[in-house]
Amino acid sequence: MNKDIVIHDFDSHFGSSAEGTMYFAPGRINLIGEHTDYNGGFVFPGAVQQGIMAMVRPSGNRSVRLWASDLQRGCTFNLDDEKGPDETHFRYVYGVVREMMACGVDVGGFDAVYAGDVPLGAGMSSSAALECCFAFALNDMFGGRLDRMELARVGQATEHKYVGTMCGIMDQFISMHGREGSLVRLDCRSGEFEYFPWHPKGYRLVLVNSCVKHELVGSPYNDRRRSCEHVAQLAGVETLRDCTWEKLEGLKDQISSEDYMRAKYVLGEYDRVMAVCDALQKDDYETVGQQMYLTHEGLSKDYEVSCEEIDFLVEVARRCGVTGSRIMGGGFGGCTINLVKDECHDAFVAEVQRSYKERFGVECKIIPVVIGEGARKLKGENLSN
Ligand code: GLA
Repeated sequence: MNKDIVIHDFDSHFGSSAEGTMYFAPGRINLIGEHTDYNGGFVFPGAVQQGIMAMVRPSGNRSVRLWASDLQRGCTFNLDDEKGPDETHFRYVYGVVREMMACGVDVGGFDAVYAGDVPLGAGMSSSAALECCFAFALNDMFGGRLDRMELARVGQATEHKYVGTMCGIMDQFISMHGREGSLVRLDCRSGEFEYFPWHPKGYRLVLVNSCVKHELVGSPYNDRRRSCEHVAQLAGVETLRDCTWEKLEGLKDQISSEDYMRAKYVLGEYDRVMAVCDALQKDDYETVGQQMYLTHEGLSKDYEVSCEEIDFLVEVARRCGVTGSRIMGGGFGGCTINLVKDECHDAFVAEVQRSYKERFGVECKIIPVVIGEGARKLKGENLSN
């Protein structure tokens, strides 16, 4: 278990784990609303039970010593170091430290050991979990007064300035605001959000990890964002959220066919999120599922962030009568998210495992979704998380 590994590694690298405090922040799923966050639209995520767990102890000096149990590697830097570590993995923590300081939190030196169970590169936001775990921990430990939204922005700024992924706010938002048993609809333009209890009777969510590692750092992710911003600029609006279908059609001759396809996907996704919200009010999960398939089509053909393996997984789902299936997260690999009827579940899982192995020679991984809580301090019996 993560907790035992973290405690064991803390003792062996820094000693006296009993003086440390344990924190946790989760990864996420997203029901619908993909690549809409940086376009001012809506997203529909939920936190999962998997995440990053860190034991942190102030050191009383200006140095930060880290040990990543999963990598079996460590790193040391000084709080006042302007450049920070080279290795991307440690830059996530360095970035959080520096951004917290920039927000006025009186961060001191500390020792920390951490481990996670969000599969890396699966599109479940392991990096947001890492950022949010440390942002939450440092705020708590060093008397910071940042609220959860501000802490989420610290994580996002870390991606932008220290890692180079120009992500939206969805992943860090939900890692901070997740609530057990609920999905959250976030309006990324206004920052307003609403919890939607998620207990779909007779259905469940299942992730299928293609094990094609997605990597957003320095990836075409940023190009997608640039395309959207370009079209928004020509349309005279701040983000594509405020671009109408008429405006987009009017621009068709002035933009590349690629930019047109990207914007078309984003406008369509806005309509699909609305349709899903409507359907959820009526417990109409068949409509929810249809919209998920349509989102996948858009992400694959117009936004072009899918890949052969993922398209295959979605086709198998369709063939098995799965209610809805699509690529989840930033894209370029990772997981599909599937809305599956209880009675269809076992046959689907067996078939997807068999046919994926047969076609690609590798195993896909089935991950049942349980919606969990956002970032928190773990104490006493909760340590068993
Ligand atoms: C990644 C980013 C998010 C969001 C999704 C796509 O997870 O970090 O901000 O853009 O991709 O919906």
